Amino acid sequence: MSDKKLIFSGIQPTGTFTLGNYIGAIRNWAPLQEEYNCIYSIVDMHAITVRQDPVKLRQNSLEAYALIMACGIDPEKSIAFIQSHVKTHAELNWILACSTQFGELSRMTQFKDKSAKHADDVNAGLFTYPVLMAADILAYNADLVPVGVDQKQHLELARNIAQRFNQKYGDFFTVPEPYIPKVGAKVMSLQEPTKKMSKSDDNPNACILILDDKDTIIRKFKRAVTDSDMEICYREGKDGINNLMTIYSAVTSKNYEEIEKEFAGKGYGDFKIAVGEAVADHLQPVRDNFTRLINDKAYLKECYTKGAEKALRISQKTVSKVYRKVGFVDAR
Ligand code: TRP
Repeated sequence: MSDKKLIFSGIQPTGTFTLGNYIGAIRNWAPLQEEYNCIYSIVDMHAITVRQDPVKLRQNSLEAYALIMACGIDPEKSIAFIQSHVKTHAELNWILACSTQFGELSRMTQFKDKSAKHADDVNAGLFTYPVLMAADILAYNADLVPVGVDQKQHLELARNIAQRFNQKYGDFFTVPEPYIPKVGAKVMSLQEPTKKMSKSDDNPNACILILDDKDTIIRKFKRAVTDSDMEICYREGKDGINNLMTIYSAVTSKNYEEIEKEFAGKGYGDFKIAVGEAVADHLQPVRDNFTRLINDKAYLKECYTKGAEKALRISQKTVSKVYRKVGFVDAR
């Protein structure tokens, strides 16, 4: 690999991806390939920290892989792989777990939230989830990690683990930095625009899925909750309209001023349809690419197999050095 900085990011195979996942994360991944060396992983090992149906998990992992490719991840330019295919993640996980404190894991807000939500299955994997995430990142000595706010605490922990290991065993790991995308936007629910857009929302109209068809997308936008005002402008308190403007801006690259001008004197109804159409048109190539890829299982397999081979080659070197550092006897 060249001397460009290295980016690592992972995404869970959750079945469906929302417009929020797309605008907030996946969409930013493809352009990064031009400036950085990028490694992207479908983190199926993280997914099983909550109960999964095995048949669905397998399907979801393949779909997630096809989807990141459909969004422009080029397996020739980047390394894209499925986490469980690369054994070094689990190996490094153990070593790093021994440099992680019970107390710091107990403070992770995501663990607290998830253990409350899945009270019947507070398994040890859920607790040590951030250690595996640190292993993902440190196995490649990534410089930068694009993460949303919900993962900031985990990244901070990964930095602490790296620093602690470096103190114990001598400077070794690169301490990763968060990567904040130039154009980041948080997408809110279409029904309750003070809440984040989430696929687990009970109201299907709250959430746009990347693979929704055009009619569905437009219908959901038509039903989006706004306010009793009339003006299309970005102002405090106009959460619904602000969200629609954020989305429209993200898919058209128009700024708020341009959008306000475009819709001056027009009604919310017209604006909602315009946003729906812009989103549907923007996502059309993603949907087309996805359909092509998911129906070409042989090609997909070739891509993720090669990706895993490349990932293993790099991370194996890291793990071998780590094993020496901690004092394990050479196996060969
Ligand atoms: N925990 C991340 C999430 O749920 C996914 C993830 C796993 C990840 N390993 C990672 C993200 C490494 C960045 C880097 O969003």
